[in-house]
Amino acid sequence: MPAFDLTHWAASLKGQRPQDIIKTALSHFPGAALSFSGAEDVVLIDMARKTGLPFRTFTLDTGRLHAETYRFLERVREHFAIDIEFCFAQPEALAELTRSKGLFSFYREGHSECCSIRKVEPLRRHLAGFSAWITGQRRDQSPGTRADIVEVHQDTSMGDDSHPLIKFNPLAGWSSEDVWNYLRAFELPYNELHERGFVSIGCEPCTRPTLPGQHEREGRWWWEDATKKECGLHLGNLTPPAP
Ligand code: ADX
Ligand code: SF4
Repeated sequence: MPAFDLTHWAASLKGQRPQDIIKTALSHFPGAALSFSGAEDVVLIDMARKTGLPFRTFTLDTGRLHAETYRFLERVREHFAIDIEFCFAQPEALAELTRSKGLFSFYREGHSECCSIRKVEPLRRHLAGFSAWITGQRRDQSPGTRADIVEVHQDTSMGDDSHPLIKFNPLAGWSSEDVWNYLRAFELPYNELHERGFVSIGCEPCTRPTLPGQHEREGRWWWEDATKKECGLHLGNLTPPAP
């Protein structure tokens, strides 16, 4: 397999079907890291399975997820008969945060410090072992921070010159309706919280259901400014992606 030509693939994967984007990703990066937390990622796992190519699924277990989400993770593990790699925060950093600031510092000081310990550092540590990762981000998920995401780019927030990392967003052009049509068509598992008005689901203290007409992102970190509703996993969204 020739080296991955990012400029070529950025142009040729633009607007392509998610299935084709995943196939390209896994053909060039067998065993790539597929990040899993919600409905979009179940679609990706199903598509990745259907390529017959190897991939590795991981999830960031912040320790603050809903009980329903833990049950969902287990259902997905059983449904696809796959291993899920659980990534955890560094115990020392977590012990220091909770000792000095308690369990709900994010309501007072913003979510950045807690997310950085419970999500961003474990993600960076996990991705250090990979050349490519795959996410379920969609452009219409967040008009403020995701409107410009592309199908593939170099992830300069999780990788660097000494560790180049390619990030694939196969569902960039899909809507929530597309995701749910796919889940229903193939009778795939979903988080039971969706039956109770939750749309975008993260940690329990930082997620709430949305009302009719509200944007899905309004249920996340609702006490904060809309432009700050990223936890740091996708920092590259806040700067122009390369190329
Ligand atoms: S977040 O940055 O606000 O938390 P969001 O919930 O929209 O992200 O999910 C977008 C994508 O980020 C998911 O499709 C998945 O690829 C990745 N992601 C989000 N949370 C996690 C998690 N806990 N573990 C693994 N991947 C995650
Ligand atoms: Fe902490 Fe909330 Fe971020 Fe979860 S979403 S890591 S509980 S601040």
